[in-house]
Parts: sequence; structure tokens; C-alpha cells
Amino acid sequence: MVTFGLFDSGFGGLTVAREVRRQLPGANIEFYGDNGRAPYGHLQKEIIANYARQILNFLAGKNIDIAIIACNTATVASWEEVMDEYPFPVLGVVNPGVRGALAATRNKKVGVIATEFTIKSEAHKSGIQAMDPEVEVFGQACPKFTLLVEAGKTSGPEVEEAVSGYLATFKGKGIDTLILGCTHYPVLVDTIRRYVDPDVTIVDPAVKTVAEAKEILEQKGLVADNSFPVYNFYTSGDPELFMKVGTTILGWPIEEVEKVVLG
Ligand code: DGL
Repeated sequence: MVTFGLFDSGFGGLTVAREVRRQLPGANIEFYGDNGRAPYGHLQKEIIANYARQILNFLAGKNIDIAIIACNTATVASWEEVMDEYPFPVLGVVNPGVRGALAATRNKKVGVIATEFTIKSEAHKSGIQAMDPEVEVFGQACPKFTLLVEAGKTSGPEVEEAVSGYLATFKGKGIDTLILGCTHYPVLVDTIRRYVDPDVTIVDPAVKTVAEAKEILEQKGLVADNSFPVYNFYTSGDPELFMKVGTTILGWPIEEVEKVVLG
């Protein structure tokens, strides 16, 4: 039996949870959404790292075998500090996104969309260029995307306007790969796809992150074999809204959400 601990500033991490269920249908999931304190993308590193530790400490009490910081912003702010502080592996989502983009790009021009914090950190850019200095990386912060998803707005005119506005920055840059460098953004992927060239490969880092988690678990001899996997959801925000929006993002019904405020 395997239990994952996942967290995000809010609903974005559910795009990683659904990938866990796709790749490891027999795994249990303990998910914490810090919706009450979202968004993280404009906060300072120390504050985000402190939130990440509070949440990892909470998840550590849930008997988890592996944790995924299902948030790029929190990964950039805390992963290097916290990865060795727990008795279970702690994975981030940035390096898998970097590896996914390097595997996808042919013309060595990569776009990254993420929060202000993540774009300012240039984490994807430096990760990519450390492996291949010839790759050009273009970043664009899209803070409205998180606000829209947190409000449950996943399509419609406001989403169109925000997506077309931010993605205009990539016109003429010739990118052939786009990293969704914030876990909220895959929720808007249908709209995003319409505003990039059809031959652009869109990289959702969740896919590689979960594949890497699966390998780590296999190496440890842990098998995700629960025929009736248990999914527990906790939020610092509104449990009713979590149930509603979360169900849409996951594609399966969330029946119960517990309100847990940390700090
Ligand atoms: N989902 C988050 C990320 O991957 C953060 C969004 C936010 O809270 O600003 O970066």
C-alpha cells in the first residue's frame, strides 16, 4: 500500500493528484489545498517556505510514503531546504518540468508560463540552461490564471481575455515547447492551446513528476495496490467551494473536505 501526500496553494495541485490516480490507480492520496492563503505567487520566499513546512509537517502526520510539492512556486521557494527534512522522499515539480521541456524541444526555444515568483526566480531557465546552454527560454508571469481557477472560472470570456493577453508575448519568438510552470494552468489548457501555434508541445510537469515518483516507490519496493484507494482532502479555504471546483478539476466526485487551518 502506498500513500501520497500532495499540497498546493489551492486547486492547482489537483492536476497532480489526478495524474497520480491515472498512473497509480491503487495509491491513496492525502491532499492539502491552502486555498485560504492562496495565491502564493506574489509572496516572499521565506513566507512561502514557512507555509510549505507547516503543510509538510501536517502531511507527515498522515502516514504518507512520499510527498509531492504540487506547486511550482512552493517548490522554488522551499524544495532544496525541505527535501532532506522528512523520513519520506519529497519531490518538487520544477525539475520534472525542465526535463520534460528538454525532451520535447527540437528548435531549442522554450516558453514558460508561471507565477510572478517562479518567473522572477528563473528556476526553469537556469535548470534548462544548466543542461543545455543553447536553449533560449522565454518566461511570462500569468497571475490572473490562478485567481480565475481559485474562483472556479475555468472557461469563458474572462479566461479567453487573460490567456490571449499573456500568451501574446510569445508571438514571433518561435517557441516549439511551452511549460505550464504553475499547477493551476493545466486547468486552462484547452484555452491555452488555442492561443499558441498548433505545433507547440505543451508540457504539463505533473506527468513526469508522477512517473519519477512511481520509479522511486518501485525502488523502495512499495506497491500501490489498494483496490479501494482512499482520497482525503483538506483545505484552509471554503470546503464547499473545494468540493465543487475540485470535482470539476479531478473528474471524479469529492465527497468530503475537512477544513484545516495551519500556522
Ligand atoms: N499552483 C501554484 C504553482 O504551481 C501557485 C499558484 C499561486 O498560488 O500563485 O506555482
